[in-house]
Amino acid sequence: MFDKLTTLPIASDHAGFELKEYLKIKLAEAGYSIRDFGAYSTESVDYPDIAHSVCSLVDKGQYPCAILICGTGNGMCMTANKYHNLRAGLCWSNEIAELIRKHNDANIMCLPGRYIDKEEAVKCALSFLTAEFEGGRHEKRIRKIPLV
Ligand code: RB5
Repeated sequence: MFDKLTTLPIASDHAGFELKEYLKIKLAEAGYSIRDFGAYSTESVDYPDIAHSVCSLVDKGQYPCAILICGTGNGMCMTANKYHNLRAGLCWSNEIAELIRKHNDANIMCLPGRYIDKEEAVKCALSFLTAEFEGGRHEKRIRKIPLV
């Protein structure tokens, strides 16, 4: 469960910009305080540049989690999963968003801005921010993910 008193980083590339702007409004209405790491328009940018600016901070523990959006969600997800302390999951349904928390203890949620309905994306974000890691057998499994 993400504490509403903590600032939530959210970021996108140009392809995720529109959804990011929508999520910012909906999450603020739900009581979350957001820090927007860009992109700040639909002008073309490179998703790894945006992903690194957020992921490096989550990796260091400066923020507990973040939401990243690009066209398919995959570029953001691939970049985030290069970080030792990050587990990023790609979500296209509310149920998957819940499961990346419950089973994978994900601290980054990636959304496909071009391939998800806006309302489903809001549901995904709220599930990601409120679901709890179940631990148990899932703890053992996530410990096996890192290569070193
Ligand atoms: C941008 O056109 C697109 O390639 C990017 O948003 C993303 O889908 C990459 O994974």
